[in-house]
Amino acid sequence: MEKLKSWIVDPPPLKPSANIPSGNATVGEKLFKARCAQCHPIQKNGKNSMHGPNLYGVYGRLAGSSPGYTYSPYTYNLGVNWDDTYLYLFLENPKKYVYGTKCGFSGFPKEKDRSSVVEYLKKMKDDNN
Ligand code: HEC
Repeated sequence: MEKLKSWIVDPPPLKPSANIPSGNATVGEKLFKARCAQCHPIQKNGKNSMHGPNLYGVYGRLAGSSPGYTYSPYTYNLGVNWDDTYLYLFLENPKKYVYGTKCGFSGFPKEKDRSSVVEYLKKMKDDNN
């Protein structure tokens, strides 16, 4: 797949694509607790933390739109809806895809880890609870 520089600095003319292996939400939950939860709460109607936005409902939501969280302008202006493809690519290496993001996560080298976390995020939204 062609490497994108960043969606904001060099927006692709077309939506990027990715070959996403099947993920496992239970594995994703464990990975989330180990690698994301220190910065991201994930609770329905939950508060953001001082280290990051609440990610409950992030799947399908416009980037930079958790109520009450002050994002960097890069994430705030990204203009993408977090779907499978965007989340999967983001989780490979947040800073590679979203120039200037404040997300301090370094990325999952394993493709399965990325898709498992996407499955978990997909579960943690309103129409599933
Ligand atoms: C060191 C703290 C930290 C860690 C660890 C971290 N993040 Fe983040 N994340 C942030 C911050 C801060 C932002 C806000 C980015 C901005 O404003 O540019 C963010 C933004 C995001 C966004 C965009 C949210 C939105 O509302 O648009 C997603 C998705 C995300 N992170 C997923 C994750 C996942 C999944 C993990 C674990 C694999 C993770 N992050 C680990 C701090 C962190």
